[in-house]
Amino acid sequence: MALIFSFDPDIRRAATIPSRLYVDPAYSVLEEDKVFGRTWQLVGRVDQVSATGQYFTAEIGPEAIAVVRDGETLRGFHNICLHRAGPVAEGCGTRQTLQCRYHGWTYRLDGSLLRAPEMEDACDFTRESMHLLPVQVAAWGPLVFANLDLKAPPLERFFEDIDRRSERFSVTTMRYVGRKSWTIACNWKVYVDNYLEGYHIPVVHPTLHKELDYDQYRVELHRYYSLQHAPIRSGRGGNRQYQSTSPDDEAQYYWIFPNVMLNIYQGQMQTNTVVARGPDSCEVVFEWYAHQPPADAAADPTWTRLMAFSDEIQAEDIEICERVQKNLRSRSYDRGRYSPTRENGVHHFHSLLHEFLA
Ligand code: FES
Ligand SMILES: [Fe+2]
Repeated sequence: MALIFSFDPDIRRAATIPSRLYVDPAYSVLEEDKVFGRTWQLVGRVDQVSATGQYFTAEIGPEAIAVVRDGETLRGFHNICLHRAGPVAEGCGTRQTLQCRYHGWTYRLDGSLLRAPEMEDACDFTRESMHLLPVQVAAWGPLVFANLDLKAPPLERFFEDIDRRSERFSVTTMRYVGRKSWTIACNWKVYVDNYLEGYHIPVVHPTLHKELDYDQYRVELHRYYSLQHAPIRSGRGGNRQYQSTSPDDEAQYYWIFPNVMLNIYQGQMQTNTVVARGPDSCEVVFEWYAHQPPADAAADPTWTRLMAFSDEIQAEDIEICERVQKNLRSRSYDRGRYSPTRENGVHHFHSLLHEFLA
C-alpha cells in the first residue's frame, strides 16, 4: 500500500484525504515521526516551572521529555539517561539536579553530567562530553510548548501574529482553573476536522446554533494556524447561554497545526489538545484559564453553567465523531468533497498534513 496520496491545493477541485489515513496503523506510526515529531506540542504550564529547579515531565507520542527551569532559561530534554536509558525525572517537583532513578547518574539543570559513580576505569569517558539530549521549548502566555525537532521553525513562526490578535484578552496574566479529559473512539484527525468547521453546527448543535450568527461564521487561514470567527447572535434573552453586550465581544477560536486549539473569550481561555492514541482512539484534554479563577470551580454557578454547556456540545461532537470513525472503515467510502464556503479550515489542515507527511 502506498503511503503517499494526491492532494489538490484548490478546494473547489479537491477530494478529502483517503479514508486509510484514519484507520491504518501505518499512518499512526508515520505521524508520530513526521507530524508530532516536528511540531509544537502543548506539554504543560509556565506556573509549573516558574522557579529554578522546578520541572515537569510529559510525553509526545512515545517520547518522554522533561522541562526544567534553570534561572532565566526554560530547558527541555529527552527524559532519558545517557547510561542505560533510565528516567532522569519523574512527575513534577523541584530539584537542583536531575538524578537518574536507575544507577543514580546526576545531571545539572543545563543537562550536563555532574556525577557518574564508579566510572573511573571506563576509557575515553569524560563527563564534559555527556549531555542530556535537548528538545526545543517555548512559552506562550501561561502555556509551555515543546518541539522534538531541533531544526523546526521557532514557536513564533507557527503562532505568527496571534500575540497581537489576542492582545486585548491579556492571555499572559490568566491563571489555571482546571482540566477535563475524554477518551474518544475516533482518529485524532476526525476530531480536528470536526473542530475546524462550523458546517455541522446547524445539524449537530441545535442549542449552539441559536447562540451564533451562522451567516457571519468564517474561517481565516494562516501558514500554520487558522482562526474561526463565530460572532454571537445579537440580542439577549432568558434562554441564551451567551449574553451579547457589544459587537466586539466576539470569541476567538485558534487552531495551531496539528492538534492544539485555543478558545479565547472575555476573561478566559480554554485550551484543547488532541492526543493521538493509535488509529481508532484519541484523548482530548480541555484546560481552562481565567483572569479571575473561582476558588472552587465545581461550586461556582457561572463556571458550572459554562462547563455544563461545554459538556453538552462536547457530547454532541463525540457522538458524531465516533460514528464517522466507524464509517471510515467501510469498504464503500474512500474520499469525499469539501464545501468551498464552509470547509476551508479542514482543507487547510489536510494540506498541511499532506505537506508534513510527504
Ligand atoms: S540508566 Fe541512568 S544511571 Fe544507569
Ligand atoms: Fe461541533
